[in-house]
Amino acid sequence: MRTMEPVFGRPLITQEQIRARVRELGKEITTAYRQKDLVMIGVLKGTFAFFADLVRAIRLPLHVDFLVVKSRSVRKPAKSGKVKLVSDLSDDIRDRDVLLVEDIVDSGLTVQYLSRVLAKHRPRSLEICTLLSKPSRRQVDVDLRFVGFEIPDQYVVGYGMDYHQQYRNLPYLAVLDPHLVQKQDPR
Ligand code: IMP
Ligand code: MG
Repeated sequence: MRTMEPVFGRPLITQEQIRARVRELGKEITTAYRQKDLVMIGVLKGTFAFFADLVRAIRLPLHVDFLVVKSRSVRKPAKSGKVKLVSDLSDDIRDRDVLLVEDIVDSGLTVQYLSRVLAKHRPRSLEICTLLSKPSRRQVDVDLRFVGFEIPDQYVVGYGMDYHQQYRNLPYLAVLDPHLVQKQDPR
């Protein structure tokens, strides 16, 4: 039987740490958006786990919507930042307070591109929330209003994040060991 656990060492961030931080982010967002018209936009597929937990930690009326983007490949990063939009928003965000939710900000090119796409719809405000940020990898300056954890330059999987579409269901965040992956992956 193939299992996931042998691929990883210790969790980089445990389920308990994720739970505690998501609760804090929920409180921060609740405070910041009290008098606003909040629309939370999740970037799929990577944010499905974080997004579901985060919205339930916010004690305000809010709307949810999603953008589906084609993920860049691990070996060929999106240098231009022109990620492919597979599915667009379903509702109008004009004059509303938009919070874009990402799984991880690496070079910053993806959120820069998505922010520009969303800004064209003329929201009243537009802020970014990301579970993870790798500040040492940044190529463009992006303003991240809410950050779950800053991490070093390591490739992480789990809690929604993938490596070749695998490991999204790992309940914690782990650093991928490429040698172990090659041994186990039959492809
Ligand atoms: P950026 O455009 O370089 O900021 O990359 C952002 C996107 O790359 C994220 O939304 C992820 O889909 C992917 N990505 C970057 N680093 C990682 C990682 O460590 N694990 C999984 N996906 C990652
Ligand atoms: Mg992403």
